Amino acid sequence: MIDPFAPSIRGLADPDPAREALRAAGPIVKVAAPYGGSVWIVTEESLAREVLAHPGIAKDPANAPESWDPRRAALEPPAAAQPSLTTLDGPAHTELRRAHAPLLNARRIAAQSDRVHELARELLTELAGGPQPVDLTAGFTVRYPLTVLLDLLGIPLDRVGMATEACRLMFDPEPGAQGRAMAELARLAEAGLDGARGGLAAELRERVPEGTTREQLLYYLFGLIFAGQLTTDAALGFLVARALTAPAGADELVRETLRDHPPAPYTLWRFTTAEIELAGELVPARSPVLVDIQGINADPGREPGPDLTFGAGAHFCVGAQLAQLELRAVADVLAADFPGARLAIPYGELRQQTYGGIMGVRLTALPVNLGAGPAGPPPRS
Ligand code: HEM
Repeated sequence: MIDPFAPSIRGLADPDPAREALRAAGPIVKVAAPYGGSVWIVTEESLAREVLAHPGIAKDPANAPESWDPRRAALEPPAAAQPSLTTLDGPAHTELRRAHAPLLNARRIAAQSDRVHELARELLTELAGGPQPVDLTAGFTVRYPLTVLLDLLGIPLDRVGMATEACRLMFDPEPGAQGRAMAELARLAEAGLDGARGGLAAELRERVPEGTTREQLLYYLFGLIFAGQLTTDAALGFLVARALTAPAGADELVRETLRDHPPAPYTLWRFTTAEIELAGELVPARSPVLVDIQGINADPGREPGPDLTFGAGAHFCVGAQLAQLELRAVADVLAADFPGARLAIPYGELRQQTYGGIMGVRLTALPVNLGAGPAGPPPRS
């Protein structure tokens, strides 16, 4: 029996055996869902692209199996209760997407390149000044994406510590922890709306559809912060490990790291709204459907071309340009300013951990000796 949702710890180069087994089982595979009933996992690229554009498959958790406990499954509230990019479908999603997308498009993000490089340099320089080796998964990969996001949204950077703690709380099993974390992140977002810094939070307020409440707007900002931290954090560990082991150009490092270690190993949950046929299989209404991004990216038979790391179709990652800039900036800064940086343990001893369910994969630790860091200004003669 294939269990693709079991937690595991393994070496960085070790493939996930569940992914190979899934692929061998066919383009769409029915397995036991972690919260009861079945889930249909798509393992083949063209079917995945069909599923991500299918009108009979929705994001709205209102369509989730009735037997699922929404808390255990970490489902968002249904779109009617809490609209968001990740719960809306169809025209309502398109409208909200139009409000967000221009703020994060390639042109707007390219304009942030110098600033993002500066933030990467500052954080790494601060860590290089402390005791070595430093575990970058503790000291850097969590803080850096949050610093970039808060800066971009116009939220004062003295709140990064608060944001880091709130993101940690999101995964705390203690009852009520998630609610507290969301309230913290909403308070942070508030600072972007009310502050005088004029970042993207205030710009989004001007762009959201008429009738949007303040609470809804804060939830959209929470969504950007949470989705942007979690994924980029995980990708950074793999990127730095690779950059310090097999240096390459920044674009190639980013592309190959994301392809081999996609931080969203599956898409988010989708649910059929009626019985539909996929690759000859009848999938009943209210069935959960996932795309196996990691397995498809790793398929040796894949045609060359854009992979599924950022998804596809209407819900393609709205932060893809920003994420790639953040990763490129770290690769650039490490190569230019930290030429002496080295892994403090052999690459083969690094471990990756999956937490179970559809959660991403993250390094357990990344001890690095950063070396001297950027040269200071030339001495005055
Ligand atoms: C390497 C980093 C990242 C990866 C691999 C990633 C991956 C993804 C994927 C696969 C989806 C589609 C999920 C689905 O269709 O079910 C998605 C959606 C999304 N991502 Fe990202 N993401 C990353 C970074 C970011 C960043 C930095 C932000 C924020 C600025 C962000 C915000 C979002 C949002 C809001 C959505 C929902 C879009 C929609 O449904 O219309 N992501 N991401």
